[in-house]
Amino acid sequence: METIAIREKIPCLDLKGQHEQIKHEMFEAFEKVYENTAFSGGPFVEEFEHNFAAFCGTKYAVGVNNGTSALHLALLALGIGTGDEVIVPANTFIATAWGVTYTGATPVFVDCSPDTWEIDPSKVEERITSRTKAVIGVHLYGLPFDVDALKVICQKYGLYLLEDAAQAQGARYKGVPVGSLGEMGCFSFYPGKNLGACGEAGGITTNKEVYYKHLQSLRNHGASVRYYHDEVGYNMRMGGLEGASLSVKLRYLPGWNARRKEIAKRYQQEINSPHIQLQYQPEWGESVYHLFVVTTQDRDDLLKYLNEHNIFPGLHYPVPCHLQKAYTCLGYKEGDFPNAEYLAGHCLSLPMYAEMTNEEVSYVIEKVNAYGNA
Ligand SMILES: Cc1ncc(COP(=O)(O)O)c(C=O)c1O
Repeated sequence: METIAIREKIPCLDLKGQHEQIKHEMFEAFEKVYENTAFSGGPFVEEFEHNFAAFCGTKYAVGVNNGTSALHLALLALGIGTGDEVIVPANTFIATAWGVTYTGATPVFVDCSPDTWEIDPSKVEERITSRTKAVIGVHLYGLPFDVDALKVICQKYGLYLLEDAAQAQGARYKGVPVGSLGEMGCFSFYPGKNLGACGEAGGITTNKEVYYKHLQSLRNHGASVRYYHDEVGYNMRMGGLEGASLSVKLRYLPGWNARRKEIAKRYQQEINSPHIQLQYQPEWGESVYHLFVVTTQDRDDLLKYLNEHNIFPGLHYPVPCHLQKAYTCLGYKEGDFPNAEYLAGHCLSLPMYAEMTNEEVSYVIEKVNAYGNA
């Protein structure tokens, strides 16, 4: 029997509530950008860069046009290019691998751990060759990967460690903010992220001035002085409206992340169905629960059942990178990375956003627990 007879749809993510809450402040910020005609780069982007670097505990942040560009430019700043290899988890959003491919280097995939679903450090060494230059760890779903374990390997082989922190603004590894743990931290501020722009945006954090200066030039046509181009560069600046919107939202992010943690805690404590497995939360990581992913034996059946009850989960992600058509040329096959493949075939992301009401959270828990008992 339904506890709530008529219910609006509960999506995986709903941004309307967030934007309604800050509409007034946001429009004021947009007005300032408009009046200053500061649409490309400029003071509003610089202000956000300053605030975001402080938030991550790094010396520098560089705003760019999206998270994919952040990865691409960070790899270029490391000098990575044709003939090089970069190790990437097989279970991530494809953009982690795009960053590598765009430089001319080859992404070399590695499996994830069966319980944390983060890159498995014990599988990394066997993928290292004389061409390997870097490892990209992804703080997937908002949970930090095991940074120290990867650092040991990177030091042993002289590799760079990059963080893909696109899904993890505000997460901490052993108390330290993500984005400050590797050579550089790459962020996406896609609207649906925990910190998302009103538009497309991304950013790179670092403590090293040499990267900071190089990234500023790379995103701006390879010029540090206008119309003097020192190298082939890109037009990947962050827009002023995006920068201003991010400064507004950054002030709310700690509160929004805290609410996500509250919802996650309820899911973790109250979902008790034997049909559902949750992501293991290791003691090193403080997740910001960008996504709340679970696995179940028959994912399509659970999806259908939840849809019938007006709950609309997401799938992150249905196909692992090594089995994507775009990477057929790399010669991977099914069975290469069993944990990533299992996750892709069995995962489902429950609704997760700060504006979910307690009643909605209870409803999702109730329905998930009732699954398979009918
Ligand atoms: C793990 C990961 N890496 C990279 C990206 C790319 O970011 P963007 O969509 O801003 O290009 C995303 C975002 O979608 C992501 O989730």
